[in-house]
Amino acid sequence: MALFLLGSKTVRLANSRLRFFSSSCLKMKKGLILGVYEGENKDDVVLTPTAAKYNELVNGKLLANIALAGPKIKKSKTRIFWGIEGSQHTCVAVVGLGKQNVGVDPLEEIDEGRENIRAAVAAACSALENVDIRNIDIESMGNAEATAEGTTLSTWVFQEFKSPPKQKIIPSISLYGDDGAEAWQIGQIKADAQNWARRLADLPANLMTPTIFSQQVSEVLTNVGVKVIVHDKAWAEAKGMNSFLSVSRGSIEEPKFVEVHYNGGNKGDAPIVIVGKGVTFDAGGISLKPASGMDEMRSDMGGAACVVASIKALAQLNIKLNIIGLIPLTENLPSGSATKPGDLVTAMNGKTIIVDNTDAEGRLILADGLCYAAEFKPKFTMDIATLTGAIRIALDNAATGVFTTSSELYEKLRSSGEVTGDRVWRMPLWQHYNSKMTKPCKAADVNNLSKTKGGGSCSAAGFLREFASTDVPWMHLDIAGVAGPCAENISYLQPGMTGRPTRTLIEFFQKFAS
Ligand code: BES
Ligand code: MN
Ligand code: ZN
Repeated sequence: MALFLLGSKTVRLANSRLRFFSSSCLKMKKGLILGVYEGENKDDVVLTPTAAKYNELVNGKLLANIALAGPKIKKSKTRIFWGIEGSQHTCVAVVGLGKQNVGVDPLEEIDEGRENIRAAVAAACSALENVDIRNIDIESMGNAEATAEGTTLSTWVFQEFKSPPKQKIIPSISLYGDDGAEAWQIGQIKADAQNWARRLADLPANLMTPTIFSQQVSEVLTNVGVKVIVHDKAWAEAKGMNSFLSVSRGSIEEPKFVEVHYNGGNKGDAPIVIVGKGVTFDAGGISLKPASGMDEMRSDMGGAACVVASIKALAQLNIKLNIIGLIPLTENLPSGSATKPGDLVTAMNGKTIIVDNTDAEGRLILADGLCYAAEFKPKFTMDIATLTGAIRIALDNAATGVFTTSSELYEKLRSSGEVTGDRVWRMPLWQHYNSKMTKPCKAADVNNLSKTKGGGSCSAAGFLREFASTDVPWMHLDIAGVAGPCAENISYLQPGMTGRPTRTLIEFFQKFAS
């Protein structure tokens, strides 16, 4: 009598025998995620095309179960049904997508259809995780790209230093049904890029020094056919990047200057140059930051992470564009050799700077990055940086602050944020702010600190403008509000650094290429 089968247990319950799977078999269970929309009337259920097909396949059992459970499935709410079909899927998670055919909300400046999908699939994955389903099939929800983004982003968490038994198991997820295979892949590439940026930013500063950053980036980008050059301190000295180097004086970690070239466009086409702030730890230098929350400053290379992550995705997507990433990398620490408040430094373009606050170091390293960018005769220059706490005060974590000389470029970036759900908002780049940084400074050309309070993000942009080439358009992105750590208001990202706005950058460059 084979009562005890290998890999399963048999229990006797009164007169009936139930066989249930042991825990090793539980992991093999497979779940299916399908979507429903809210109908016009209270009790309407509107299945997505794939869900409708599935309902036919199971002879109406899906709809019957939904009706039994109460038909109204609200946005991002999940219902799990067991045993609808005998073969492929142990259970089906039905998730609410909200209203059907919703597009861009012009005031919110967001594609609600896509954003609803990201949030819904994240909720469904988490509901399946709660019942130990690690193997998931998911339908396209009418937009396989957004579905892939929602699943890939929401199931990832920075946890590599937790002991393996304590690590969350990341589910394996595949597209179900016959629509959207290509879009699914595109979404995965974009979300994987963002996840890489999240990881780079969250890695503790002792494990993500300028040297380690350059090594990891060389490895990953070389693998996708991008050229990476790692310049050392001597190179930066020869270039006259003394503003950048002044920040690294307080640390024993060698500064690096990483230069990456992605040549997906026509030979000879002017490149786009993007400079990313790569401060691998910002203690503030002699203008030391308060202790509380200082660990967050391990992610002060979030701009650099976005640059390399978006270039990785562009290469994988084979986007027809020439793009150069420039990344000054350094720590900002106090020491006996550190730059002191009031010190004078000279940037690569010969402008002299009084460093009144060593904690305003981002602008010092970007200044030389922007000067160097001009050597490539770019189509336009962009920089991206966790630059000011003030942008958090202004915009919270809702949007990246954008300062630009070009309304055309701004519109492209704005509409990219609409698509990705990772939005931007325009800030002023007026002479008013340049003057604040230059006029009161009698001893040198520029001061790195404004004498008057208020508009801290704008005066930082005003400072940078003194170093960006005036021959071509320029955009400055302040991401200190969005880079992390993640707040609860983004339901498809788990706690940790966010890797924002990587997908918006990718979308923007894609738009630019087409
Ligand atoms: N890395 C910080 C900005 C920052 C603050 C990023 C909070 C993320 C969260 C930057 O280097 C900095 O220290 N900025 C100063 C500028 C000030 C001294 C003019 C700031 O924002 O306080
Ligand atoms: Mn600082
Ligand atoms: Zn900083």
